Amino acid sequence: MRKKVTKAIFPVAGMGTRFLPATKSVPKEIMTLVDRPLVQYAIDEAREAGIKEFIFVTSRGKSALEDYFDAAPQLEQTLRKKGKTELLDILKKTDMDSGEIAYMRQAKPLGLGHAVWCARRLIANEPFAVILPDDVISADKSCLAQMIEAFEETQSNIVAAMEVPESMAEAYGILDVKEDMGSIVSTKGMVEKPAPGEAPSNLAVIGRYILTPTVLQKLNQKKTGAGGEIQLTDAISDAREEDGEEVYGYRFKGQRFDCGSKAGFLQATVSFALQRDDLRDDLWAFINDLVHAKEAAQ
Ligand code: G1P
Repeated sequence: MRKKVTKAIFPVAGMGTRFLPATKSVPKEIMTLVDRPLVQYAIDEAREAGIKEFIFVTSRGKSALEDYFDAAPQLEQTLRKKGKTELLDILKKTDMDSGEIAYMRQAKPLGLGHAVWCARRLIANEPFAVILPDDVISADKSCLAQMIEAFEETQSNIVAAMEVPESMAEAYGILDVKEDMGSIVSTKGMVEKPAPGEAPSNLAVIGRYILTPTVLQKLNQKKTGAGGEIQLTDAISDAREEDGEEVYGYRFKGQRFDCGSKAGFLQATVSFALQRDDLRDDLWAFINDLVHAKEAAQ
């Protein structure tokens, strides 16, 4: 029987040190791209793909994240009294039904694989999605929805993939390509953060995964990999090597922003703002002025 993907894990336990001092008191996932927190983009993408259960793997200091998803009756009442229906509608879109969202604590920062493993009891024996909210993907059809369509055909592990320059390979999980079929690529496994010159291809894993429960079993082994951490990439490769499961890369259609970096966060902010009717004209005018001023100075 064909299995449906209805659960997604959002690993959000990281300390976000690249964004200090802001992340001293604000979880990175709450930082805003235009006027929506980073994590809202991930939730919207998952919902568009048909996800019904949202599992957050959090850590100490992330309570603002839980508050964000909580109902805000006082705020709603004030807005209602003032007749601010547009703002009420915006708030409504962030509502999460009771029971739709769950939080697991990752007690120790032992790696992405370990974070996913923390949610194993809530996943049980179903295929599931993993979304890394740092990777924000702007697309006509949500990246996860594209991947779920592909999963409906393959019923196998699928990771989002994108070409990266050779010099960047060491920052990613890199696919060991078996056969390149265009949007889908079959693999012989993956290597997490290969040493310079050792990347098996230029196709990098981007933070969207659809995985089988076998990967959770592999994570039970708690093997450490790159950086001394328990890597999700290794568990997926093991599901292939030890259990003969297929692992595919999926070249998604859309633009990915690395919001784990300051430059990526800024690029995403500008790009999303330029998509907005209420901001586009002013922002373009500002960018044009900057470009002219730069040209004049040269
Ligand atoms: C994680 C994964 C890596 C993947 C990357 C995508 O790495 O471990 O395989 O390529 O996300 O953003 P991180 O960026 O957490 O070091």
